[in-house]
Amino acid sequence: MAVIIIEPVEAGAAWLAHALAGLDQRILRTSGADEAMGAIATEGREVMAAVVGSGLDDEQALTVASLLQQAAPEVAVVLLRERESGQMLRSALRFGVRDVLAASSDADSVRASVARAIELADSLRGRLAAAPGGARPGAPSGHAGEIITVFSAKGGCGKTFLATNLAVALAAGGTEVALVDLDLHFGDVAIVLQLFPTRTIQDAARERGLDAEALRSYLTPHHAGVWALAAPTEPPVADTVTASAVSTILKLLRSSFAYVVVDTPAAVTDQVLAAFDESDAIALLATLDVPSIKNLKLTMQTMERLRYPPSRIRVIVNRADSRVGLRLPDVEKVLGTSVDLTIPSSRSVPISVNKGNPVLLEEPRGNVAEAIRRLAAELAPSTAMEPAPPRSRRTLFQRS
Ligand SMILES: Nc1ncnc2c1ncn2[C@@H]1O[C@H](COP(=O)(O)OP(=O)(O)OP(=O)(O)O)[C@@H](O)[C@H]1O
Ligand SMILES: [Mg+2]
Repeated sequence: MAVIIIEPVEAGAAWLAHALAGLDQRILRTSGADEAMGAIATEGREVMAAVVGSGLDDEQALTVASLLQQAAPEVAVVLLRERESGQMLRSALRFGVRDVLAASSDADSVRASVARAIELADSLRGRLAAAPGGARPGAPSGHAGEIITVFSAKGGCGKTFLATNLAVALAAGGTEVALVDLDLHFGDVAIVLQLFPTRTIQDAARERGLDAEALRSYLTPHHAGVWALAAPTEPPVADTVTASAVSTILKLLRSSFAYVVVDTPAAVTDQVLAAFDESDAIALLATLDVPSIKNLKLTMQTMERLRYPPSRIRVIVNRADSRVGLRLPDVEKVLGTSVDLTIPSSRSVPISVNKGNPVLLEEPRGNVAEAIRRLAAELAPSTAMEPAPPRSRRTLFQRS
């Protein structure tokens, strides 16, 4: 497998080659569009990614991106730019560019971005090959439970906050809800719900012949009616939870829970794609900043290429009242779609996180809780969504 560097300036090309050296990919250095297209022609499917250096100006860089998109749409393109204008970003997105990095980024950031792009390109190839031209299957029918996955490709947008509170909102009608922490390396569902799991998703994934009943024993109950499948406590073992184990676990959970909410890491991993495959609804989350909206747009493009039906997707802007420059209409224009739900910013969110008590229970009549209940009501029209009277936190499941 190979990565093409497109950089006319020798020093820049050498720096990039050095930055990407740890990726276990052949590095092919080229100085412009013609050489890069030549490399694509000779190397064919060996090429996983192309990195366009800042030695090309914006117009040249976009031309390369567009040529690559036409000739080899599965090659992930990453641009390094001196300046990131909104116009540049919009054009880059149109040409399917996976990431735009500041030219001043350090080697680790460039390597990490290209590694993510390669991982995604790899998954896309496998999946497009598996279902050439065909529509993605609808979420499995005839099942009892509904699976809702919360995702954003940028970290810190509020996925864990939304997933935990959505689970609590769905459980408010008395239904039992499962909550799966797929942030396998850094999952913090257990922390924000103040749970002390003794078993995790890694233990469940390891069990042979797992069935729905056995799976229950891996869940940690929360007094709000939510059953959490916690992330592994040791990040190195996280990779042992395969995508197929995730599919099996979600299928089993949907057979015994009315709702299964899935929290995710900020990257499209194979495990996340497995969750998308099983999901009836995918809540894509962003905040009102350019990197977040850029990542949301890329995610939507990826989902389109993988033929996930748009009807499954809900676009949600968190902290939508923050005055940080971007406005909702601008965001909708960039995304080419309307935002389904906005959630306001509130001090009660970090306070509730620090207390380990979901904001839905902490401040059930606040604006944040109301927005989340609206989402829950839309996803589960039959469930009662009135704010529940405050429950005693000292229940059967309470730890002293
Ligand atoms: N609506 C909101 N108002 C105020 N603070 C918020 C809001 N939503 C999230 N936050 C805060 O933002 C921070 C990040 O939230 P959270 O951990 O849910 O994000 P995440 O997307 O899960 O992050 P990661 O990618 O690291 O898993 C938390 O401190 C949380 O309290
Ligand atoms: Mg999180």
